[in-house]
Amino acid sequence: MLRSLVYVIVLQLVLQITDALFLPLSFALPTASDAPSSSSSSSSSPGFVDFTFTLEPQDMVTVRGGVLQLDCQAQSDAAAAPPSIMWRKDGVLLSTVVDERRRQLENGTLMVQNVVHSRHHRPDEGEYQCLATLDGLGSVVSRTAKVTVAGPLRVIVPTESVSSYLGDTALLRCEVSGDPTPLIRWQKNREDLPLSFQPESRLAVLPSGSLQVSRVQPPDSATYRCLADNPGSTRTGTDAELRVLPEPGLSRNLQFLQRPSRVTALLGTDAVLECSASGYPTPNIQWRRGEEIIQSWNKKYSLLAGSNLIIRTVTDDDSGSYSCTASNKNQNITAQAELSVLGSHIYQRGS
Ligand SMILES: *[C@@H]1O[C@H](CO)[C@@H](O)[C@H](O)[C@H]1NC(C)=O
Ligand SMILES: *[C@@H]1O[C@H](CO)[C@@H](O)[C@H](O)[C@H]1NC(C)=O
Repeated sequence: MLRSLVYVIVLQLVLQITDALFLPLSFALPTASDAPSSSSSSSSSPGFVDFTFTLEPQDMVTVRGGVLQLDCQAQSDAAAAPPSIMWRKDGVLLSTVVDERRRQLENGTLMVQNVVHSRHHRPDEGEYQCLATLDGLGSVVSRTAKVTVAGPLRVIVPTESVSSYLGDTALLRCEVSGDPTPLIRWQKNREDLPLSFQPESRLAVLPSGSLQVSRVQPPDSATYRCLADNPGSTRTGTDAELRVLPEPGLSRNLQFLQRPSRVTALLGTDAVLECSASGYPTPNIQWRRGEEIIQSWNKKYSLLAGSNLIIRTVTDDDSGSYSCTASNKNQNITAQAELSVLGSHIYQRGS
């Protein structure tokens, strides 16, 4: 976006428009990276000519063996002919690279057939930019489009069967890695559970992929499995049983099923600090921000499945230490979490 608008000085135009004998403007030619961050405004200063992208390459995810298509189009009011388009990948001009899989169409679009991607050979993944050139005027450089080739999904932790006492909390894990990070969904007896539940629901899919079942009831007893999807593939997890046992009513030590950890959230998004605990008597969960107990449940803070802290629309002020305490009349256990908020500098500059 920053680089999409560049003004090019055209001596002849300046002379025509201003009808002056000397140039009213200095020759400081704004470089692409200094240009104002608007692609829609047009220049009104005499002596500058709009040379802008009407279409810029977008970030995209493709798969091994797939097709990669990146579009680019630029135009200028100073030239009738369309600018010539060239592509560069990771800073290297592609026109100099001969490759039968890569082709540039007449309209400027770059097509890569049969995307190659292996552990040690990743010729297609990377950062692409297009260069538009008008003879005698100069060139403009587009935004950088990040191309990712989706990697295979790998199950890190297969889901294991769990037994839970009536009224307690159960956690079914699903840890699948992949690039891009897969979206996790769950099935109960082979039927899809919703992707997200109401906040007050006993069930929740946590950002880690785990399915949390709070205040376990007899109907929760079933076979569960997770499915991981990314644009490249789908991976089906192993079947796991949730067995519901009658509560014997004897005290059981509190333990964390899921401890909160270091969480990084992008500015303006919602963050979830995961925490779930089991034991008898059923523990209460309390969250603290630093030393202070979070008591007001409002637009900022809410709980997911009764124990995970949701912090809405995070800002810099939200970063810091949090802790989750599970307690009953016998015992209490505490786990620490750290929230980092990313991207505030970009936001402030952009708005
Ligand atoms: C160029 O042509 C291809 C194939 O017809 C099309 O998919 C693409 O969108 C076109 N690009 C532009 C910039 O119009
Ligand atoms: C729980 O923690 C508090 C300190 O936060 C402590 O005073 C109290 O004794 C603890 N209770 C139990 C049962 O361990």
